[in-house]
Parts: sequence; structure tokens; C-alpha cells
Amino acid sequence: MADERHMEDWIKKLTDENQDKKFDRRSFLKGTGKIAGLSLGMVLAQSIGGFEVNAAPKFQSYPFTLGVASGDPLPDGVVLWTRLAPEPLNGGGMPGEAVPVKWEIARDERFRHIVQHGTELARPDLAHSVHVEVSGLKPNQVYYYRFKSGYEFSPIGRTKTLPAAGSAVKELKFAFASCQQYEHGFYTAYKHMAEEDLDLVFHLGDYIYEYGPNEYVSATGNVRTHSSAEIMSLDDYRNRHAQYRSDANLKAAHAAFPWVVTWDDHEVENNYADKIPEKGQSVEAFIIRRAAAYQAYYEHMPLRKTSLPNGPDMRLYRNFTYGNLASFNVLDTRQYRSDQANGDGNKPQSPESLDPRRTLMGQEQESWLFNNLSTSKAHWNVLAQQIFFAQWNFGTSSAPVYSMDSWDGYPAQRQRVMDFVKGKNMNNLIVLTGDVHASWASNLHTDFNNPKSPIFGAEFVGTSITSGGNGADKRKDTDHILEQNPHIKFFNDYRGYVRCKVTPVQWQADYRVVPFVTEPGAAVSTRASYVYQKDQMGLQRVSASAVPQGLKISEQVEEDRFTAHTHAHNKQMGQIKEKVKQ
Ligand SMILES: [Fe+2]
Repeated sequence: MADERHMEDWIKKLTDENQDKKFDRRSFLKGTGKIAGLSLGMVLAQSIGGFEVNAAPKFQSYPFTLGVASGDPLPDGVVLWTRLAPEPLNGGGMPGEAVPVKWEIARDERFRHIVQHGTELARPDLAHSVHVEVSGLKPNQVYYYRFKSGYEFSPIGRTKTLPAAGSAVKELKFAFASCQQYEHGFYTAYKHMAEEDLDLVFHLGDYIYEYGPNEYVSATGNVRTHSSAEIMSLDDYRNRHAQYRSDANLKAAHAAFPWVVTWDDHEVENNYADKIPEKGQSVEAFIIRRAAAYQAYYEHMPLRKTSLPNGPDMRLYRNFTYGNLASFNVLDTRQYRSDQANGDGNKPQSPESLDPRRTLMGQEQESWLFNNLSTSKAHWNVLAQQIFFAQWNFGTSSAPVYSMDSWDGYPAQRQRVMDFVKGKNMNNLIVLTGDVHASWASNLHTDFNNPKSPIFGAEFVGTSITSGGNGADKRKDTDHILEQNPHIKFFNDYRGYVRCKVTPVQWQADYRVVPFVTEPGAAVSTRASYVYQKDQMGLQRVSASAVPQGLKISEQVEEDRFTAHTHAHNKQMGQIKEKVKQ
């Protein structure tokens, strides 16, 4: 590997070049301000911030193919998102000029009471995406929004601001989701989510998968196909996001609620760590790939300009405080982490994995988190993040095995969080997790090896939207894992999402699941509901019901997810070898 200083210089150069050419925030803001004064139809073309502006665009076909979204809400504002893409799978199909997009936000669905409107530039260097940061809205209010470009109107979206900071909030209803491998199934879960009554949605990563067609195959077979080989370039990542976002159910869920998103690994590449790729690339080549992946992610998500990437860096960790009820710390455990120990995979601990210098969050994010936890006055402190937090031995007590990619692979980092929480005597930490394609619920003990030690919170792990295929009620190794890990109280292997109902005294998680994803049309039901209160009793199951039509038990085991990724990896390596031969 190249030496550290050379690498830092190289990254700085890449960042500076990007700053000059693409991400000049000043001209970005100036350009956006200037266009507001343009009158549509009067000025046909004007040059702004290095781009020709076509103020009267005519589209060959409908440009709002990717729908609309809103996100990163505050008590007085929210981000409104869309992207002009008449040809979504083929680079977007827009000319290399900037196009003004009008937006309006109203109190009612029929837009009779418009509270604000404006014009934003859809720029070619950001794939003609639009991120409007509306401010001056009322707290805890539902709003409706839409866009117009040329003669075309976008679909209508619905959004909601956060309650006023510190205000007394009686209830919050939200859902969280993760892992939506497009080929593994239909997004039926999102159709049902869109019909829920929610204030907010969190996405905890694996929004896209980077694989070529049928490289990553689910146990129940792939039912849709990625439109290109493994994604590497900015165009590849844009087309992949566009393919996922073309799904009607996903669009419906985005249009229904504001979303707060964070990524996991597959938004770039399986199990990457900071600047270290999983396979087959130099660090230099991977940094360019990461910059492309991060940029495409920004372009397709309702994020604020504070998340605009700087070359291969992007600030995604951030806090959302929901009145006095909950402080959500949205983490990024990929961009700053130490490389996986012990060659990655599922392994016993070793001096390498136990090294206290290892980090998942990086120093800055860790300090930021501890500062938020120290100053929080909320009833609940939440980590909305990617990977399994609780200890999770899927070997035996005499020969334990842990996932080197999750918090178990970074035990010193987890201990620092737990020591901090213990030091503050907290009993209100809720961890929300994705990544592992199954539902889990765990009590968080100050000592995972002692089930009698105090409980400082609970972890709710959400299943995937599609990744892994249909699944089953339980797997072959479920009973064994629950036996080995008495703090883990619940497992289920159907697809779906988690709906949470939060009040000052209790946190309820409803595991909403569908029995199959290989065909559309599955019904949704609540497999189980768990409640956590701050009373040292830990998780309580309040209801459970069988899921009609679902497979009761499968031959799958936890290791199979790892094996499926290894197969995908081997197929990719085969493809690379083929290319070299040709
Ligand atoms: Fe995943």
C-alpha cells in the first residue's frame, strides 16, 4: 500500500480539483440565487456558474421518472428533492446544460394555500438533481410539494416538519428499513409502508447493491435484473440509483414521508472500510470509485448541502432532535472505520480484533456522539446506524464466532460507547440497525456475558426490504443462536420493516413483515411487537402472531449470507479475469 503521506496529498489534490471544477460552493449558491430572478420564457439561455442555462426546456419524454422525495426535516424546514431524468437508465437523458426547476410547497394537497415557492437550478454536474432547502415553515406540520420544469409537473409529495426543539411531544410514529437488493424481490414492503400513518422514515443502508446481473443470487432466486455490470464509474452509480428509484413502491414511500438516510457498504462496495476496497482495486482507484459512489448517493437522496461531497469525503453523520422525545444520532460506520480484523468474515476474537486503537466511527464522529449524548435532554437517545451492535456469538460458548464486519469486530469501539453510557447512568439508549437481512431484538446489558447485569437500552434490528429473498419464520440455527445469546429475545427471517411508536415512557417496535417477495402482492402483518421501558425489565413481548402463507422453517443458517456474498465476489473476480483475457 502507498505510504500514508503520499495518499493524503493525493486525496487533497483530488479534493481540490473537485472543489474547483465541480463543487465550488460559492458559485453553486450564487448560481442558485441568480436564477431566481430569471423569468421563464424571456431568457432562453444564460451562462451561470460555468453552465449554459436553458430556461425554457422541452423534454422528449416525462422528466420526473424518479419521483420526488423529502428529507432531513428540521422544526422550520425540510429538503425537497427531485431529479430530471427522461432516460433514467441511460445517464438521465438530459443535455449538458442547467435547467431551472420551479417548486412549491403548500398546506393542502390541492395547492390552494401555497406557503412558499421558488426556482432551483438542476445542474448537469449533479445529474440534474434538485435539493431545495426550504426554511420558514411551521413545526410539526404536514406540507405538500411539487416541482415544475418546462411544461411538466412532478408527482405530489407529502412531508412533515419536526416538532419545535424541546417542545413536549406525546408520540412519534416512524418506520425504519434497510437492504433492498433489487434482483432479490419486489418492494411490496414499501407499498405497505407508504400506507402507514408515519411522521418519518429512516433508511439504514444498502439502498443499492453494486453487483452485476445475477452475481448476488438469493436462496429463492432472483426475480429482477440489474441493468449493468458491477458499478464503478459515476455514470454506473447514477444509473443503478435510477434503476432502483424507478420502482413505483419505493417512489410511493419516498413521496409519503420525509426520510433520513444513511448508507452501509453496498452503496459503494461490499464490506469496504474507509479507503480500503474489498477486492481487486488499488487504494487510488478505490478512492476515485468511492468519490463517484458518494456523489451519486448525494444526488439521489434528499440531503442538505452540508452533505455535499468533497471529492471522496462526505459528511453523513448528523443529529435530529424530535422535540423533547428523542435525539436521533445518525451514524456513518463505513467512511472512517479501521479495516476489518482477522481477514474479515465470521471469526473468533484475536489480539488484532481486540486492539483498542481500532475505530468504527473515527475520532471526530465519536467525540460528536459523546457530546450529543452528554447534552441531550430527550427522553430517548437513539443510534440510527448500520450494523449489529449487541454481542452476537453464532458459534458455541467454548468456540465463539463473531462477525468481523459488525460492532463485534470492533469490541474496543463498542466498549468505549458502553463505558460512556454506563458513566452517565443512562437507561434510554435505543439502537436501530440494518445490514443482516433479518429481524432481531436484544437487551443491551452493561456486560453481555452477564445476563443479570444492568440493562441500559435495547437494539431493534430491522429485516431487509428484499435482500435474501423470501426467508422463513425461523432458520435452522435460530434456536442455537438464541440459546447462546440470552440477551437476544427475538428473531424472524421474513422481509419487511420495523414500525416504532414512541412515547416518553415506552418504545414499541412492531416487526411488519411480508411472507414472500418473489411475487408482488403479499399482505403485510405484524409478526411480533416488543416494548422497552426504562425499568430494568428489558424487552417485553406484547403481541405475536403467525404470518399466513410464509415458510415456517428454512435450511438457511447465519453463515449463508456471508457465503452468498463470497459467491458474488467469486463471480465478480471471474468477470474481471475474463476481461483481462479478452
Ligand atoms: Fe444488505
